[in-house]
Amino acid sequence: MSAQDHATLRQCTRADFPGMWAVRYAVRENPLSPGRLDDNDMIEETEVSGRGWVIEHDGQVRAFAVGNAQTGNIWALFVDPQWEGRGYGRRLLEVMTQWLWSKGLQRLSLSTDPESRADAFYRRSGWIPLGLTANGERRFELRRESARAAAAD
Ligand SMILES: CC(C)(COP(=O)(O)OP(=O)(O)OC[C@H]1O[C@@H](n2cnc3c(N)ncnc32)[C@H](O)[C@@H]1OP(=O)(O)O)[C@@H](O)C(=O)NCCC(=O)NCCS
Repeated sequence: MSAQDHATLRQCTRADFPGMWAVRYAVRENPLSPGRLDDNDMIEETEVSGRGWVIEHDGQVRAFAVGNAQTGNIWALFVDPQWEGRGYGRRLLEVMTQWLWSKGLQRLSLSTDPESRADAFYRRSGWIPLGLTANGERRFELRRESARAAAAD
């Protein structure tokens, strides 16, 4: 039986924040400098402007995602490096994009380091690569119409 069989995907609560930060600081690509973001940002993004989800396994947060319903921005999608390649990223991206579409958004966006695993992951998931941001990240977007058309194929 694979690890994924025991993994639960659910909406996050404040009690998950320590586990979410642990995953956030464990990733090797798209790392976060300590102190740049804190629980207040997490509360704003998961309770005010958007929603967050975790994948829990053996009582531990292994992956999480946060989407902003006001802007359509994917604020976070992170999988603990030891738990990559089990479909957690895909499951989180799916539930998050469906929720964002349900909020009436027509276009979603994000930015990530070029040449990272995430860059390949989003291309494979149908996101369109655009130009680079001022700090060198690759911008991506997903339009609702093209996502719908791909699902109907
Ligand atoms: C990018 C990330 C979210 C992917 O999560 P994951 O759980 O390992 O991905 P999954 O197991 O769900 O894989 C989903 C699909 O992407 C594919 N994929 C993943 N990495 C890939 C790569 N480097 N090249 C090609 N395809 C890749 C998988 O094969 C899979 O495709 P399939 O479902 O058609 O077989 C995860 O690696 C991560 O957190 N990276 C570090 C942090 C980061 O950069 N986050 C994004 C910030 S914007």
